[in-house]
Amino acid sequence: MTEKRVIVVTGASRGIGRGIAVALAEPGCTVVVNYSTSPDAAQETAAAVEAKGGAPQLCRFDVSDPEATKEAFKEIAKTHNRVDVLVNNAGVARDNLLALMKAGEWDTVLNTNLKGAFLCSQAVVKMMMRQKYGRIINITSVVGVIGNAGQCNYAAAKAGIIGLTRSMARELISRNITVNAVAPGFIETDMTHKLPEKVKEELLSQIPAGRYGTPEEVAAAVKFLVSDQAGYITGQVIHVNGGMFMG
Ligand SMILES: NC(=O)c1ccc[n+]([C@@H]2O[C@H](COP(=O)([O-])OP(=O)(O)OC[C@H]3O[C@@H](n4cnc5c(N)ncnc54)[C@H](O)[C@@H]3O)[C@@H](O)[C@H]2O)c1
Repeated sequence: MTEKRVIVVTGASRGIGRGIAVALAEPGCTVVVNYSTSPDAAQETAAAVEAKGGAPQLCRFDVSDPEATKEAFKEIAKTHNRVDVLVNNAGVARDNLLALMKAGEWDTVLNTNLKGAFLCSQAVVKMMMRQKYGRIINITSVVGVIGNAGQCNYAAAKAGIIGLTRSMARELISRNITVNAVAPGFIETDMTHKLPEKVKEELLSQIPAGRYGTPEEVAAAVKFLVSDQAGYITGQVIHVNGGMFMG
């Protein structure tokens, strides 16, 4: 493995993605900070990466857009000639009950969370195969395993991520590329801040740890999975959920 790793984290402008970008930053490495809408927030992530000795590169594109994603990775390849680590973290939720869910809410969530992970993985995989090295981490969710009322679209996308992870893992391990998923439970970020107080209290009662997790706690699992020590781990789903689900 190269010492000057090139790491791409999608949806790294805030929340879990920012936590991962910062945790993976090491002197000499490049961290490509992808974001879709907030340059100021992405800049804050970049500053935190730099403070840890990493070289940040801001990269704006919508992971659900096939052309934009292809172009972005072409540029990354041109600049760095390699990608060692891809973290498919970008995600959105558009919650609604099944009976009320609009096709657009379904499409947005599936396109960002699932198709986005497919597009980004496809865009790096040939490079990783040539390198004979790669680490891909897909961020799924506890609800992709246990389901959640009001989140048919999100749970379907996150369950899809697990199937994608396992299939990619089987295709790619012979080229020394591992593919794993990390399944956070409920983590303190903008995504969960938006939930109504009553829902938050109810969720808390289901978490044996008695608290929400932090982006840093999710990032620690990702950091282990991209380490040399984890080279024989592939196709796995690592749960980071305070005991909310034990699979
Ligand atoms: N917060 C939780 O409790 C929780 C639990 C389980 C899984 N997750 C997953 O973790 C990941 C990060 O979630 P978070 O809580 O930090 O969310 P967040 O809303 O705080 O951040 C999401 C990030 O994704 C980016 N993004 C959204 N759509 C994008 C697109 N089309 N292209 C590129 N970037 C895009 C946003 O700009 C932002 O940087 C998501 O995949 C989410 O589903 C979160």
